[in-house]
Amino acid sequence: MSIKRTLAIIKPDAVVAGHTGKIIGEIEKNGFKIVAMKMLHLTIRQAEGFYAVHSEKPFFKDLVNFMTEGPIVTMILERENSILQWRAVMGATDPAKAEEGTIRKTYGTSLQRNAVHGSDAEDTAGTETRYFFNAMETL
Ligand code: CMP
Repeated sequence: MSIKRTLAIIKPDAVVAGHTGKIIGEIEKNGFKIVAMKMLHLTIRQAEGFYAVHSEKPFFKDLVNFMTEGPIVTMILERENSILQWRAVMGATDPAKAEEGTIRKTYGTSLQRNAVHGSDAEDTAGTETRYFFNAMETL
């Protein structure tokens, strides 16, 4: 089951700009089923916990500040090969390098303010979905 699921986040830049509905539309148009969804405003500690893997990176503090500046929408997406497929729909991390038509190319404005997040592998998809959704919410 877990290999068919991945975590998606619509980041504060895209939410505040009013792109939430269009991004959800792209997700559905690309064949993903949204199996869980919530809007929340992360605290500093919650953002630090989510991005703990990047805690030694020079951009960590800025990333945490950005992810806490406004609400996010977090979702569990399901489809065959969901991790790779969602990464393809998002496009490259840096919007300037993302392919035309991808979400980051369309809505991202910088390497940091790149509109959306997706898990990068099967184990992180499991950890990340459990970070935001409990067992009862993901049956
Ligand atoms: P995301 O897919 O959410 O994973 C980690 C995030 O850190 C990434 O998207 C970017 O928003 C941000 N990020 C990655 N590399 C850099 C960088 N070199 N400088 C600033 N932000 C970065």
